[in-house]
Amino acid sequence: MSFKQFSSDTDVIAFARQHSDLFSADEPLKVAEIGDGNINFVYRVSGATTSLIIKQALPYIRIIGEGWPLSQDRIRIEAEALQLEAKYCPDLVPKVYHYDAEQCAIVMEDISAFGNLRMAMVQRQKLPLLGEHLGRFLADTLFYTSDLYLDGHAKKALVQRFINPDLCKISEELFFWDPYCDHERNSINEHLRADAEALWQDETLKLEVARLKIKFLNQAESLLHGDLHSGSVFVNESGTKIIDPEFAYVGPAGFDIGSIIGNYVLNIAGQSNLPGDQAERQDYQQWLLADMNTLWNTFSRCYRQHMQAETQDPSLRQAAYAEWYLAELLADSLGYAGTEVIRRTIGLAHVLDIESIEDAQQRTESERLALTLGQLLIKERASFSSIEALTAKLTKQLFCH
Ligand SMILES: Nc1ncnc2c1ncn2[C@@H]1O[C@H](COP(=O)(O)OP(=O)(O)OP(=O)(O)O)[C@@H](O)[C@H]1O
Ligand SMILES: [Mg+2]
Repeated sequence: MSFKQFSSDTDVIAFARQHSDLFSADEPLKVAEIGDGNINFVYRVSGATTSLIIKQALPYIRIIGEGWPLSQDRIRIEAEALQLEAKYCPDLVPKVYHYDAEQCAIVMEDISAFGNLRMAMVQRQKLPLLGEHLGRFLADTLFYTSDLYLDGHAKKALVQRFINPDLCKISEELFFWDPYCDHERNSINEHLRADAEALWQDETLKLEVARLKIKFLNQAESLLHGDLHSGSVFVNESGTKIIDPEFAYVGPAGFDIGSIIGNYVLNIAGQSNLPGDQAERQDYQQWLLADMNTLWNTFSRCYRQHMQAETQDPSLRQAAYAEWYLAELLADSLGYAGTEVIRRTIGLAHVLDIESIEDAQQRTESERLALTLGQLLIKERASFSSIEALTAKLTKQLFCH
């Protein structure tokens, strides 16, 4: 048998029964196509008391069709990345029940007890464990897939296993190219056009973006999730789940950290003009800034502990080296956060945190704020000696006019 797109509920149900032992043989099952993403098909199969998720990758991008082909190897990469992440933080990812190379499909745990982080942030939900969970996920997945832990052969084998050219190309273009020129893929609010044009003329900014881009292209530091925006994070009061690592490849660790920090910053920019009481919105902005501190501080504490306890090479285990490494990584992370903020404001794919501001003038104000913060993050990334130095600067920028 060769690859076949699931074309009916019966197909999906048969596949679910074949590849999991969740359901009894005579139990009636139903199927819903629940994918709200752009790239793949996602189905929920439910029985009387339990359910599972099936994700299938076609040889092209779902919302575009055959006009934009995309390697189906992405679903193998996603399955293997989820399994690797589960080795280090099993509580933070959905469990993979089965990966099927022929049908290009993953059968996995249904995490619908958790809600999308982007929606939670738009609704100003404070999540007491978010920063800690994200910090631990990043420390574990980035450390245990780096040369600070793996020996040379294991590391090169990892790089080879996660070569992901099609999806890397999408990120290369959407993060580092389109937003810095008048590209046809960009989506720019007409009221922000002059700001975008000024940004395209900013040679200092473009030089810094080039430095970040070359690291994205050639720094094989750690296995990345590769698409760690707030739509890939699911949350509730007691837990966090991170899904959709189909962009995984071995790249600069700061790219993952920066992607999610950039999404905090995008929500901060949105909260300046989202509907609701101003004091409540400002309070939420302050909560986001505090949680960014928690995220980075949890990450750096865990990373430092891993280096001290588990790095074998004595030259890389020196305390002074860990400090240097983490300082460089903070700067990289802030730079990538800035590229995420800018590409989500004037590039192809925007975010609900800002798009849901109905009034065009107010939306423009939040977009302008996002562009200002994004540029600050990129240009000044090396000047912050701690995350608190950054969040203090952002606090000043937001609240002290
Ligand atoms: N394990 C899961 N449990 C519950 N819901 C899920 C699960 N995996 C995916 N979903 C739902 O399906 C949606 C799309 O999933 P996902 O982001 O993995 O698809 P995608 O096609 O790769 O999307 P994108 O365009 O963001 O890359 C998620 O936003 C979520 O609502
Ligand atoms: Mg995806």
